[in-house]
Amino acid sequence: MTHMTKGTLSRRKLIKGAAALTAATAVPTGWAIAQAKPLKVGLMLPYSGTFAQLGENITHAIEMVIAERNGKFGGREIQIIKLDDESKPELGPQNADRMVKRDNVDVLIGTVHSGVQLGIHKVVKESGTLCIVPNAGAVGVTRELCAKNVFRMSFSNWQPAYGMGLALGKRGVKKAAWITWDYAAGAESGAGFKEGLEKAGGQVVATLTLKFPETNFQPLLAQIPGLGVEAVGAFFAGGGAVQFVKEYAAAGIKVPLCGSGFLTEGVLGPQGAAAEGVETALHYGDGIDNLKNTAFRAAFKAKAGREADVYAVQGYDSAQLLVIGLEAVKGNMEDEAGLYKAMRAAKIDSPRGPVSLSPSQDVVHNIYLRKATGGLNKVTGIAAEALADPGTGCKV
Ligand code: PHB
Repeated sequence: MTHMTKGTLSRRKLIKGAAALTAATAVPTGWAIAQAKPLKVGLMLPYSGTFAQLGENITHAIEMVIAERNGKFGGREIQIIKLDDESKPELGPQNADRMVKRDNVDVLIGTVHSGVQLGIHKVVKESGTLCIVPNAGAVGVTRELCAKNVFRMSFSNWQPAYGMGLALGKRGVKKAAWITWDYAAGAESGAGFKEGLEKAGGQVVATLTLKFPETNFQPLLAQIPGLGVEAVGAFFAGGGAVQFVKEYAAAGIKVPLCGSGFLTEGVLGPQGAAAEGVETALHYGDGIDNLKNTAFRAAFKAKAGREADVYAVQGYDSAQLLVIGLEAVKGNMEDEAGLYKAMRAAKIDSPRGPVSLSPSQDVVHNIYLRKATGGLNKVTGIAAEALADPGTGCKV
């Protein structure tokens, strides 16, 4: 197949055309045949490296929704195809291309790492393949690069960090530092933190970075006591977050540590006492008291053998969004207009609380304040209610 660019016939339109031809000449119709075929859902996620557990939890939760619905969404049998993207941005475009062109997936659910997401985004924008983002927060995906076939059920990097900065500023913090990996998620979270803090009268006076996924934190930690700040905000996640929080505590730094909630999410066990008291902001937390969350947590634990976390919630909601779309069109993916309309209007009963979509097809949800206490990220309040990413520059 020749490489398709914007403006040429999309794969979906070609299939639609072929289906119409078949319908005119034979019984059963093309649509009926398409209905009988399983719907291929590609999971392009990290199953190795520092984010491996994140990818696994997203996968477990998607599989839970499939099992709850006896293997079918909108009448179509669901077939899962998995690919380990290793959180390597340089492999993003070719891996996404493989899923779309070789595996012929109908839907691509991926991924975790913002840099890899940008590669996926380029590919799905060209092919017109439906893409649901189950983690990566790269802001461009729902801002200037947004596309009608791309929906995000996780967060934008801006959202949790904005909530954290705002909460600090409101309690009178005037000077803070930001520390992170030097890649899209770290930088965009830093921008959110700064915006929130400035809105409430504070300032970010220093930003410290190291390359992703490096963990040589010592030279950066050594600088913190000399910065004259009242708080240190951070974005790290997965294995890197475990090590960072432990080394921060071991260094005996007196400045309180806080951050985007990924810093302590799903990793409190290995962080142990080092995480005690760390305050973060995120769209999930321990102690969210709703029926959906209680049932979800029990079912996740039974399946995965560990506690649910935000990544599991995002995987669950990504699959819930797909169910809503496919039910509206009775499994007929060729009814693109009907599919996207239903997905855009979705009101999801999520374990995190109420979820809807913004005009740029990004998730709108509460950002909770949490404090790591006795092995739990206990919710202590709401940093920002029904927070939407600004969606700047998006026209879908
Ligand atoms: C990202 O790269 O966007 C990212 C990765 C891991 C997280 C959150 C965001 O926990």
